[in-house]
Amino acid sequence: DAGPAILPSVLNCDFGNLMAEVDRLREAGTEILHLDVMDGHFVPNLTFGMPIVEGLRRHTDMPLDVHLMISDPLAYAKPMVDAGADLLTFHVEAVKDPVDVAGKISDLGVGVGVAINPGTPLSDLDVCLDCVDMVLVMSVEAGFGGQSFNPVAIDRIRELRSRRPELLLEIDGGINTSTIGLAREAGCDLFVVGSAIISSDDYTAAVSDLTEAMMS
Ligand code: DX5
Ligand code: ZN
Repeated sequence: DAGPAILPSVLNCDFGNLMAEVDRLREAGTEILHLDVMDGHFVPNLTFGMPIVEGLRRHTDMPLDVHLMISDPLAYAKPMVDAGADLLTFHVEAVKDPVDVAGKISDLGVGVGVAINPGTPLSDLDVCLDCVDMVLVMSVEAGFGGQSFNPVAIDRIRELRSRRPELLLEIDGGINTSTIGLAREAGCDLFVVGSAIISSDDYTAAVSDLTEAMMS
């Protein structure tokens, strides 16, 4: 089911109240959770792994979109699927053979996405565009929430959309009410939003402002 949809990232939420945060995001009208998994190696930051994904899986029926910012995605793909991931996205920069990785993730019975950082040539995706369900176009360098939007992502969304009319496209990083409309206009389907929701006192208002900006 191909959007458009706003996917909250819990990266900068209150992890001491994770389940309450997820409930607030659900009540705000979001339907899919974006989970940022970092290994302190592919990116210089650490977040969480399977136990948190599994705990979220037991708590909510929201689909879990898991963004693997890790050096060895195949080592954790099956554990992540067993933990409850519905869609697994690996970084093209992390792997030697993206076609092989995409195929092995697909074989686990979940959706597969490939992510690309702003500094990586878009042509690095050419080999695997027909083996993935989604491309995640990063609009910041993967690793941290709260960074500012890199507009190169808009040109990439536009180009991928013109080359693959049916491919699911997701954008992640620096999405707020000023950037979301540009991404939608370029042909994006799924919009990951961290700080523009989580830094607001009122998640419902933040999501409705973003929805309005996306549609306008
Ligand atoms: C960055 C993550 C993003 C990010 C989104 O590595 O993949 O999901 O946390 O947060 P904002 O919207 O604050 O850029
Ligand atoms: Zn992410």
